[in-house]
Amino acid sequence: MTYENRIPLVDLVAQFRAIEPEVRRRLDATLTRADFILGHELAEFESAFASFCECRRAVGVASGLDALKLALRALEIRPGDEVITVANSFIATALAVTAVGAKPVLVDCEPDTFTMNPAQIEAAITDRTRAVLPVHLYGHPADIAAIGAICERYGLHLVEDAAQAHGARYRGRRCGSLGVLAAFSFYPGKNLGAYGDGGAVTTNDEALADRIATLRNYGSKVKYIHELCGENSRLDTLQAAVLNAKLAHLDTWNARRRELAARYEELLKGVGDLQLPKAQADVEPVWHLYVIRTSYRDRLLAWLQEHGIGALIHYPVPIHLQPAYAHMGWKRGQFPVAERLAQEILSLPIYPEMTEAQLNRVVAVIREFFDRAV
Ligand SMILES: Cc1ncc(COP(=O)(O)O)c(C=O)c1O
Repeated sequence: MTYENRIPLVDLVAQFRAIEPEVRRRLDATLTRADFILGHELAEFESAFASFCECRRAVGVASGLDALKLALRALEIRPGDEVITVANSFIATALAVTAVGAKPVLVDCEPDTFTMNPAQIEAAITDRTRAVLPVHLYGHPADIAAIGAICERYGLHLVEDAAQAHGARYRGRRCGSLGVLAAFSFYPGKNLGAYGDGGAVTTNDEALADRIATLRNYGSKVKYIHELCGENSRLDTLQAAVLNAKLAHLDTWNARRRELAARYEELLKGVGDLQLPKAQADVEPVWHLYVIRTSYRDRLLAWLQEHGIGALIHYPVPIHLQPAYAHMGWKRGQFPVAERLAQEILSLPIYPEMTEAQLNRVVAVIREFFDRAV
């Protein structure tokens, strides 16, 4: 296997090469301005990202986990409260609830979109429930109309985990503008990724945005005057500079991801027992991941890796079965759809710089697996 033949899950070097002058220009300007904390590029990014999300405000924070935590803190969710979220997500979604001292209450996901099953929410509501936290998993928006209607009926906050959904649309509206607050991650491999950790909270509520901006900065609006017991969770100005350079390309990159997803669908339809992801009507996903299902998952994963293709499982262990949460008393079998998915899902390479030839090779290797190995 030569290096050239390898196809990674994402290719951040290829992306850097494509935008290198602009990234270097902005980093350089920041280095000469030396405004590393709450600097010019951060202010520019917060304004640009709010516009991108078609909402009033974006507040840059240190990570996606912090964005979730600060969103919950701003809503004054605290010990004794419960937040309903979903069993199949990256563990950060539940950890944010745990971090503010509240209890994560899980529901299962839908088998076709892998997002929160709204039909299970009502049974999970108690008099301690304060919020519902759906995840736009893999860049596909959760069923916000159904979830939002329940939140309204029970007086619950709707907080979006939009860490994988920069630019996705639900009934024409951007993810990040659908709930009272939304959390984004700029982990490097995300559709919009920094060169290190980063995150943001978006909202149409000015007062909540101000509260988050204060909380992330040691609870301070005026230097050395601290109104709240805040945190140090500011998005670095250097990271904001990188994000500004990338944000200008995000719509084009997401469109390319949609093209690649359509191509995978065309070429993989009917191959073996593969089940391919499908966008729901009225939804524009951004294909953070292209996740297929097969009962031969482990063998196909090994085969792809042997052939130099960087497939991966997102995520192999659902949240309720994570050792970190053993104390919660969640049982195997409690969320059967999430558990079944964890056995069958496989993420294929998808990134804007991926070429037609690379995609064709992934498809050829998968076809060969079902022709020869099964
Ligand atoms: C769904 C989801 N929520 C939250 C996070 C946490 O983001 P971060 O790694 O930036 O803390 C991530 C990504 O890592 C994620 O995929």
